[in-house]
Amino acid sequence: MIRLAKPWIGEDERRAVTAVLESGQLVQGALVERFEQAVAALLGRRHGVAVSSGTSALQLTLKTLQVGPGDDVLCPALSWPSPAHAIRVAGAKVRFIDVDPGEWNSRAEAFREARSGSTKVAIVIDQFGNPARAEEIRDALGSLPIVEDAACALGSRFATGPCGSLGVVSCLSFHPRKVLTTGEGGMCLTDDDDIADKLRTLRNHGQLGGEFVVAAGNARMTEIAAALGLAQLRRLDEILGRRRELAALYAKALDGVLDVQHTADGAESNYQTFGAILPQGFARKSVCEKLHEKGVEAGVLSFAIHKLGSFAGSDASLPIAEHLATRGMALPLYPQMKNAEVEEVVHALFGVLNE
Ligand SMILES: Cc1ncc(COP(=O)(O)O)c(C=O)c1O
Repeated sequence: MIRLAKPWIGEDERRAVTAVLESGQLVQGALVERFEQAVAALLGRRHGVAVSSGTSALQLTLKTLQVGPGDDVLCPALSWPSPAHAIRVAGAKVRFIDVDPGEWNSRAEAFREARSGSTKVAIVIDQFGNPARAEEIRDALGSLPIVEDAACALGSRFATGPCGSLGVVSCLSFHPRKVLTTGEGGMCLTDDDDIADKLRTLRNHGQLGGEFVVAAGNARMTEIAAALGLAQLRRLDEILGRRRELAALYAKALDGVLDVQHTADGAESNYQTFGAILPQGFARKSVCEKLHEKGVEAGVLSFAIHKLGSFAGSDASLPIAEHLATRGMALPLYPQMKNAEVEEVVHALFGVLNE
């Protein structure tokens, strides 16, 4: 079976994790701090605050920015539900916006149009690792705080700098489907000292300088996770290079047959997920089942979040997100994959489409 995704775990990772287990220091400590500094330096940010997942990074960020009842937050409609759920958990209203049919991210105009007098924050997503149009969105939103959901986008680049550099806080995920994994994990990146202090307090039972100053939960990262992350960081360039080669093979093979995601001029994706849009007349479930019979694991690309049960009652109509969510398929892509396996996937897919 050619799997949809597979983390690339080698000897370095095994050694690093074993060393932590032998040290007996398992919870947030020196390795977490080193991992935070390394990621922050890579992305040109002043602070990295490691947390337990990309979702907790978003939740703590909205809490730090004091998003709450009476506020609304702009959120692209095509994604994993975490950013929209984080807004709801904060008690605010989600203002869903549609995405661009080529880039599958929300564009500046959509953010500008959706903004209301009660908009407190805009969440900008680099969906599937494809960089959002950072400069255009920043210009369109002026002083409105941007939270960048760069969960998928470590190693991707806007035309003007790395993904993870856009938001007043940018949030990463290190889930095993991401280009770099710590098992579960995430990180908030910011240049603001006060925000960084608040995030550190909120992730650790509300403690600051040894005092409990606010009621909060536990969203710490373990030393085991950080050791894994540091080992993965050392091979990040190799991971990214290989993902880009594989994506280029897919793009060439599918050109003129299936729609794929486009990247803005001057920007560079990490291809965290490679998606293809099925033409009218093909049901994704049946295509995926037939691919499975041929030894290829393919799956749902993403969700039109406003259509999920957690937003039942939403009357938003966002046709592009709905189209991509209904017809989009994720294809296998991971750095250990061979060129011949991409050919196998494409061959199997064309076989199913031509049946
Ligand atoms: C855009 C986006 N945001 C947030 C998340 C949540 O990250 P995590 O799974 O680490 O909680 C994901 C996960 O896939 C995602 O795709």
